[in-house]
Amino acid sequence: MNILGVETSCDETSAAVVRDGVEILSNVVSSQVEIHRPYGGVVPELASRQHLELIQPVIEQALERSGCALSDIDAVAATYGPGLASSLLIGLNAAKGVAFALKKPFLGINHLEAHLYSPLLSVHNFDALPMISIIVSGGHTILAHVTAIGSHEILGQTVDDAAGEAFDKVAKLLGLRYPGGPEVDRLAKEGNRAAIPFPRSMLDDPGFNFSFSGLKTSVLYYLKKNPDAVVADVCASFQEAVVDVLVGKTLRAARHAGVRAISASGGVSINSRFRERLAAECQRGNLRLFLASAPLCTDNAAMIASLAFHKLHCGTASDWSLDVAPSIGLGRA
Ligand code: KG4
Ligand code: ZN
Repeated sequence: MNILGVETSCDETSAAVVRDGVEILSNVVSSQVEIHRPYGGVVPELASRQHLELIQPVIEQALERSGCALSDIDAVAATYGPGLASSLLIGLNAAKGVAFALKKPFLGINHLEAHLYSPLLSVHNFDALPMISIIVSGGHTILAHVTAIGSHEILGQTVDDAAGEAFDKVAKLLGLRYPGGPEVDRLAKEGNRAAIPFPRSMLDDPGFNFSFSGLKTSVLYYLKKNPDAVVADVCASFQEAVVDVLVGKTLRAARHAGVRAISASGGVSINSRFRERLAAECQRGNLRLFLASAPLCTDNAAMIASLAFHKLHCGTASDWSLDVAPSIGLGRA
């Protein structure tokens, strides 16, 4: 079964064709990062205008690269939330239009739920469940216990800023370009991780929630007091504080849930130090680790098409009246 997936929740216009839930025939992602860079963040109005311009060529390209004709498509899926309302509307309506014209099922997919499974998609391995899955992106930091496809429980999430947001805000304080995560990651390689003892917020808290706004404020005060601080040291010390908390809580969640597998997705999961530490801890704890390849960590339509296959398998196509849900969470399923 070939599913055409569409993703336009934020600033990436993406379309993909995935066969039987695991075989990625194409995954076209058009990033708008250059358009939003001068503003230091995503401008919703600009994002939706770009999606409108790009959605048709991106879908056409995804079909062309997949080697499939429209008539080979068995179902069409799109992200319906969470995300920017005006951006979601473009992808959702384009996908509905294609499905309607083809007289094929249409599925609305929760973007966060798709992130949960994207690491399994890259290894074609869906028998790793149950697992602890951490989503660390620009908009979310969520720790979930996934017991089966479509069945999960949120153990914790951020009470303020998302991990990626903290990377981006700290990068801005340091005068680095947007998006800040990759810049901090790059500079941290030359810095001393132990140079500045930034706080490990909520690490010793018995729950699984996260908080990153205090850490960002600590960096701000440190820079005010130390205007000549070595940027690489600030990056390395800040990054280590974030990674300590993310890895510490993920491992504790795995012990708490009694699972033998961990997965991570979202833009921050590309971070080299995060990957290094998570891999080392999983090896030490004899846990299987599933990390998505970089194009599957960030927003992409392949993860949408993949989850749609599994949803369709359970017989859950969506109604044509499905609306966008900009603030929907991961929920309990
Ligand atoms: O998943 P994503 O592409 O978009 C959202 O759905 O939010 O994640 C983007 C976030 C940005 O905050 C970006 O700075 C961060 O992921 N990011 C990184 C790295 N690469 C991207 N953060 C830390 N280290 C990286 N290497
Ligand atoms: Zn995302």
